[in-house]
Amino acid sequence: MNGPAGMRRPKVLVVDDDPGMLDVLGQFLRENRYEVELAHDGLEALQKVREAPPDLILLDVVMPRMDGIEVCQTLKSQKSTRLIPIVIVTGLTDLEDKVRGIEAGADDILHKPFHFVELGARVRSLVKVKRLNERLEDVENVLFALANAVEAKDAYTEEHTERVSRYAVALGRKVGLDRDYTEALCVGGMLHDVGKIGIPDHILLKPGKLSDKEFEHIKAHPIIGERICRPLRSLTYVLPGIRYHHERVDGRGYPDGLRGEEIPIEARILAIADAFDAMTADRPYRRGMSPKEAIEELRRYAGKQWDRDLVEELMGMLERGELDIRSRRIK
Ligand SMILES: [Fe+2]
Repeated sequence: MNGPAGMRRPKVLVVDDDPGMLDVLGQFLRENRYEVELAHDGLEALQKVREAPPDLILLDVVMPRMDGIEVCQTLKSQKSTRLIPIVIVTGLTDLEDKVRGIEAGADDILHKPFHFVELGARVRSLVKVKRLNERLEDVENVLFALANAVEAKDAYTEEHTERVSRYAVALGRKVGLDRDYTEALCVGGMLHDVGKIGIPDHILLKPGKLSDKEFEHIKAHPIIGERICRPLRSLTYVLPGIRYHHERVDGRGYPDGLRGEEIPIEARILAIADAFDAMTADRPYRRGMSPKEAIEELRRYAGKQWDRDLVEELMGMLERGELDIRSRRIK
């Protein structure tokens, strides 16, 4: 079956220095409706991947110029190519190759001599996983685009989300949070205000003071943001940061009025990073505060609005020059 019009055939890159092997594998894959590219050694393989990334690579280990393990390591260490599934094809007895292949990040190992039925099944399933991952990435990118669209409404908050991410990750690392948390802080920094897409412009962009009723609208944005991101299970870990980034440690924040450590630490960090950037950013009607002034302001409300220990930590980082505060300018 051809599949829907517009859905291209998956492309497999076969890499082997044995022309006979390339012939056999190439023919089998073409018969199974794959598009096929061939490479005779590791360097040629890397070049072909650069020119047109395939959907899967069948990779021999022992080859001239660059071996399969090195090719695998190179591709798995680069963001743009690490999602391409790699199947290492090796002799049954080469246990060492097998171990090195796994360590290099190969997605599967196929032993020679192999059965074509098995090869076909593995290729099919890995290509399917890759397509699903790509769709997931596409959906996440749509959310980032949405967050950027919110930011673009207010020209003076340009790059705000990136700076919030950067400050939050730096602070998170400083207090010893692990990679899962810093990832949540990074993505949370980008998406924390995505719910503002649901707030009418005349309220969101109003220059003067907001009425109580208007402020009620603004207060809905963490919940709207959480609702937008919740269907995407790959973003579950970011939801607490989005929902609780306007909570206050004295319990007078929104939307849930959580207190102190009831507020997840990633949300306490995002709140500080968000406020710090808002205070230091220049506006058309006023210059931003200096970082030092902003920290003083944060300290004034530490223990009420913001977590005292985290504010002190941020101050220490600033004093020691550990906080990257570039690009706080209006374009
Ligand atoms: Fe917000």
